[in-house]
Amino acid sequence: MGWRSTEKYMKIRKASKADKENIANLHIASIRQLCRNHYTRKQLNAWTSVLTPSIYDQALEKKVVLVAYDSQQDLLGLGILDIENSEISAIYINPDTAGKGIGAKLLNELEMTARNSKIFRITVHSTLNAKSFYMNHGYIAQELALHSLPNGSKLECVRMIKDLSTDAEQRH
Ligand SMILES: CC(C)(COP(=O)(O)OP(=O)(O)OC[C@H]1O[C@@H](n2cnc3c(N)ncnc32)[C@H](O)[C@@H]1OP(=O)(O)O)[C@@H](O)C(=O)NCCC(=O)NCCS
Repeated sequence: MGWRSTEKYMKIRKASKADKENIANLHIASIRQLCRNHYTRKQLNAWTSVLTPSIYDQALEKKVVLVAYDSQQDLLGLGILDIENSEISAIYINPDTAGKGIGAKLLNELEMTARNSKIFRITVHSTLNAKSFYMNHGYIAQELALHSLPNGSKLECVRMIKDLSTDAEQRH
């Protein structure tokens, strides 16, 4: 997606319907590359096969959907907050630019939005590979859970929570 490792430019904005195809491509690439050591090939295929552009319509209407992008307008990351359910629905980073702090920035932005919406305890159903990322950001693992895909496949994940009201990083 053209992001050079030397490039410092990265911004975050709300996603629009025009982003759907690029979001789907990023989401699929992120799963295939960054989740491959924790799920079987069959699970990865089942997971990515449902990610068509139209699957984001509901999130774009009902949730807070943010994208991180570079100076070429290429997408570097996706973050989704479900205010109604006090839940972080997704954070997926372009595999070419993972580990450079983009996930942390998206997570901070989603948490700030949650606080502004008077959410004091937030939940995430983390992939097995992202558990330590969320732990580094103050999330506490509760229990293993199964995420059911539309085709009947199930993915193991970890339900984690964070108390935003007592978070030291709290911003006003
Ligand atoms: C997990 C993910 C969102 C993290 O985003 P990222 O931009 O790569 O992470 P960052 O660069 O912000 O990392 C921040 C810190 O977490 C650490 N970290 C990042 N990914 C990690 C991982 N998988 N396991 C443990 N630590 C991780 C980094 O080393 C960094 O540590 P530091 O702050 O002490 O330097 C990203 O790797 C990803 O998209 N993974 C695949 C999709 C996924 O599983 N998403 C979660 C869905 S709930």
